[in-house]
Amino acid sequence: MPNDELVKVTDLVRYYKRGKIKIPALLGVDLSVKKGEIVGIVGPSGSGKTSLLNVIGGLGRPSRGSVVVDGSDLSQLGDTELSNFRLKKIGFIFQFYNLISTLNAAENVEVPMTLAGMEKEKRQNRAKELLRIVGMGHRTDHLPDQMSGGEQQRVAVARALANSPPIILGDEPTGDLDSKSAKKLVELIRTLRRENKVAFVLVTHDPLVVQGCDRVYSIRDGKVIKEFSQTDINHFRLDKDRDDMDHLLLTDDMVAK
Ligand SMILES: Nc1ncnc2c1ncn2[C@@H]1O[C@H](COP(=O)(O)OP(=O)(O)OP(=O)(O)O)[C@@H](O)[C@H]1O
Ligand SMILES: [Mg+2]
Repeated sequence: MPNDELVKVTDLVRYYKRGKIKIPALLGVDLSVKKGEIVGIVGPSGSGKTSLLNVIGGLGRPSRGSVVVDGSDLSQLGDTELSNFRLKKIGFIFQFYNLISTLNAAENVEVPMTLAGMEKEKRQNRAKELLRIVGMGHRTDHLPDQMSGGEQQRVAVARALANSPPIILGDEPTGDLDSKSAKKLVELIRTLRRENKVAFVLVTHDPLVVQGCDRVYSIRDGKVIKEFSQTDINHFRLDKDRDDMDHLLLTDDMVAK
């Protein structure tokens, strides 16, 4: 693997088994992510985006093909190794933040560090520091329902950073945010990649997120159908290729709605 390559997915196939029925979700995906790169995944509902993210994050196993993340070949890992991998190497952010409602911001950020066995004072200090980095340093003792969606998502980003993973995976991370909060989240993501060299893989329908990506894969029916380069995205950013942007994001199912 070239040494700036963080994720390498080769000919990834993933089926879900329902009794005797095999439901295909991914049908031969090739993809790569470099250290500190922000990669977008777009595509219609049911095209396999979440399945792809889950396999990269060690939440699902490949049925065939190979997934190598930060030097670990995931198909070679046992269950304990895989959960260790998730804890140390991957941060997750979700559409609905998934914070624990009975824990305050700092305690939520501490959860992955507790699971990793970090000692109390160290994790309390780190939680404060991470909340400061995401702009939530003044809200450490607030409960999730005392924060706006955008604020909760920034706490979720701090939690994702807890064990210093090289990569954060996001499934529609701005899906529940207003455009101002979405913009702030994209800015935060770009700052984290610049200052901490964290890579991101972001499943999204949001033009704001796409504009913040370095590269975008468009997937359909479990396959990559197109890859958009930095140059393509710069065109979208400058609003020069409105039609292409619409083509990228207005997937069949969205048009049908
Ligand atoms: N746990 C599961 N069991 C069975 N089939 C599943 C399961 N999860 C997903 N699938 C199927 O796999 C395919 C891909 O689903 P996936 O959730 O990856 O799509 P998606 O692109 O994330 O869609 P959306 O945009 O709606 O979130 C779909 O046909 C879906 O029905
Ligand atoms: Mg999904």
